[in-house]
Amino acid sequence: MDKFRIRGGNPLKGSVSISGAKNSALPCMAASLLTPETVTLHNLPYARDIITQRRLLEDLGATVLTPELRTHKINASHIEIFEAPYELVKTMRASVLALGPLLARFGKAKVSLPGGCAIGTRPIDLHLKGFEQLGAEVRLEAGNVVASAPAGGRLKGTEIRFEKVTVTGTENLMMAATLARGTTVLHNAACEPEITDLCQLLNRMGARVRGGGTPTIEIDGVEALGGAEHTIIPDRIETGTFIVAAAITGGELEIKDCRPEHLSSVIKKLTEVGVEIEELNPSTLRARSKRGLKSHDVTTEPYPQFPTDMQAQYMALMTQSEGRSVIAETVFENRFMHASELQRMGARIQLQGRLAIVDGPTPLTGAPIQASDLRASASLVLAGLVARGETIIDRVYHIDRGYEKIEAKLRAVGADIERIRESVTAPSSGATHQDAAA
Ligand code: UD1
Repeated sequence: MDKFRIRGGNPLKGSVSISGAKNSALPCMAASLLTPETVTLHNLPYARDIITQRRLLEDLGATVLTPELRTHKINASHIEIFEAPYELVKTMRASVLALGPLLARFGKAKVSLPGGCAIGTRPIDLHLKGFEQLGAEVRLEAGNVVASAPAGGRLKGTEIRFEKVTVTGTENLMMAATLARGTTVLHNAACEPEITDLCQLLNRMGARVRGGGTPTIEIDGVEALGGAEHTIIPDRIETGTFIVAAAITGGELEIKDCRPEHLSSVIKKLTEVGVEIEELNPSTLRARSKRGLKSHDVTTEPYPQFPTDMQAQYMALMTQSEGRSVIAETVFENRFMHASELQRMGARIQLQGRLAIVDGPTPLTGAPIQASDLRASASLVLAGLVARGETIIDRVYHIDRGYEKIEAKLRAVGADIERIRESVTAPSSGATHQDAAA
């Protein structure tokens, strides 16, 4: 398993380009299953989860051409298998996004039930309840979800109210409803920019979806969908991670190819803390911290509030800020695994259920530490960049799942970071069901 060796202390300087959003790319790739025509996606990040999703599509029978590194031409005209097996779902929970499209187009789908994962139990009950409301029969068989459409093969539009905001749940139901008979209304839908992006792709394919990006989404079902071409939005979490990287190292970064309006809550919070963030143009930010940072509390919540996917990186920053910060994680249970590793580097953090109380600033010292999930890994890299001495981060396959070549991007702006290739084992092959946190 690969490791990162980081020697901390270098202020980052220069410019970095943001890749496409993994969390938008995954549902958009799944949406290609809704049509026999070709869907062309541009700006896919070169990350492990994208390779896993491609493998899933190919296993189902789709052909995927890659005329350029970040472009996939996906054709799902000959789907022969309707199943996402455990081997894939255990390494990437977002494989459940195949359920909605398969059920809508072919009237049947089987997806292995994701087990517990490193950031909590993360059930998919709300997805399944929604499919049932669309008229599907859903059974659990030997660890698999087996879903079938009602007689006649088509789902039936209806009103669905999510008890809790769920991102992939909203995406799965939205995709399923595009080919249903009649109109579906999703209440309490997730409003993340990735939902809006998927909505745009679906409408380009001929779907009739209104209200994407708001809590109420209306979908008029159509008979069939066609091919389309679509460019994935920039990754707002990668953008936020690089803002924190500039701030925590006392450096200055120009962050290009991003969409600042997708991270207003993050920019607002980091500005309160004392990070100087300037919008140079609609796709470029400049981030720096010239003065001391002041600790502030934060609560993670669904979009447009502060994202849970930035909580770990924010915690690393709070270890270097003056005063006490209370970080409340309301989206996931058990999403503080990075705290114990940060403590090993010298951070002062107390955990109380869903609260983390961070006292800073504390000088961090390099140590051998272990990544536990995707965003936790980003937090440890950030801590390593500011720690005295050498930090070795084990299990970096977690970070490879969602960040495109993070060590190369960081090195290009002055970080002393290198990948240690330990063996020929592929990054994801060490993954277990404990690792499927996205
Ligand atoms: C997505 C993102 C992930 C992000 C998360 C929250 C992708 C591929 N992943 O994950 O990066 O951290 O949104 O912004 O887009 N829940 C249920 N039942 C369900 C579904 C969800 O109880 O059927 C709960 C979850 O356990 C969690 C909360 O709802 O507590 C939100 O989860 P959800 O929005 O579904 O997260 P994901 O879509 O899995």
